[in-house]
Amino acid sequence: YRTLRVALLGAGAVGSQVADLLLKHRAELADRAGANLELAGIAVRNIDGKRDADLPRELFTTDAESLIVGSDIVIELMGGIEPARTQVLQAINSGADVVTANKALLATHGSEIFDAADQVGAEVYYEAAAAGAIPIIRPLRDSLAGDRVVRIMGIVNGTTNYILDRMDTEGADFADVLAQAQALGYAEADPTADVEGYDAAQKAAILASLAFHTTVPLDAVHREGITQIDAAMIESARHAGYVIKLLAVCERLAAADGEPSESISVRVYPALVERTHPLASVHGANNAVFVQAEAAGDLMFYGAGAGGVQTASAVLGDVVSAARRHIAGGVGVGESTRANLPTVPIGRVITRY
Ligand code: NDP
Ligand code: HSE
Repeated sequence: YRTLRVALLGAGAVGSQVADLLLKHRAELADRAGANLELAGIAVRNIDGKRDADLPRELFTTDAESLIVGSDIVIELMGGIEPARTQVLQAINSGADVVTANKALLATHGSEIFDAADQVGAEVYYEAAAAGAIPIIRPLRDSLAGDRVVRIMGIVNGTTNYILDRMDTEGADFADVLAQAQALGYAEADPTADVEGYDAAQKAAILASLAFHTTVPLDAVHREGITQIDAAMIESARHAGYVIKLLAVCERLAAADGEPSESISVRVYPALVERTHPLASVHGANNAVFVQAEAAGDLMFYGAGAGGVQTASAVLGDVVSAARRHIAGGVGVGESTRANLPTVPIGRVITRY
């Protein structure tokens, strides 16, 4: 096989597992990708930091820029906006394909990144950026490309589901469970992103952009987090036959009277879900996404929404796709992952629960 040089930026909860699997499953991945995936190095802040996997020390560097030079595939798993944005653009402009799980980056600078990729014929893969291990980006982008999605509703943040679930089932304390979610590698580096709904809003913007073939700006997403939810609310909900879940809802709305076209509503908020509803049985850090499409009807995607090794699965799937595209000469296999079809006007209609 031809050898492709892979640069990894970040070796935290997800990155350390990606590196471990890339090294452990080298032979199998080469067969699937049609190329040897050579892990050229891993950029981190602190070379001697504690890792979740036993990785060769000589792979580590603090010089991400030098590592990117000459790489065929750059995997960005640092999180945050900078230096992730600059280094992703550097990777694209140097001819690499990029794999990222960084929803914060894509929801805020996606257009800039996809434009840069289009200009040089590079590809950006981001299956792990929404709902962790669950394949949802490709189904929305590819499998449902011939259909008309009318609604997406789901639990897309693992940390908040873990917190609400433990509060509901064990009467656990919010702060204690949040600390556990952090220790388990579910939470963002700044967990405010999880508990205040920013992470779910970023994912909702990405999913809605794909589903509705438009660009949904983050500030068009209505966002409420779970920090106001206390034990008494959870108890009251239980007595009434409900469970509280942080939901993301993205839907097309019929054209209002006198308006020529339909609108889109995208919102994230803690909702009362009937205990008999399938979403009520989504426990722990799992996620579930219901997609309603005109022809396909109702589809449901379920699985691990957070966690290092689980998310690494989605990242490695993207790495294999990127490698196949490289081997095929950079055309045909990947196709553009951006939502760049004609824009549907976005309504700022907000429906509260
Ligand atoms: P972590 O915070 O655990 O790890 C971040 C890694 O990036 C660390 O190794 C850190 O280095 C490195 N890093 C951060 N800033 C810099 C910098 N300026 N220069 C060099 N290296 C840097 O993050 P996660 O692994 O949890 O998440 C990574 C990405 O994946 C994020 O975008 C996140 O949103 C996304 N994601 C996470 C999931 C999860 O379950 N954790 C699930 C789905 C997506 P050092 O170790 O030296 O500090
Ligand atoms: N912090 C995120 C979550 C990671 O809890 O869902 C997965 O995107």
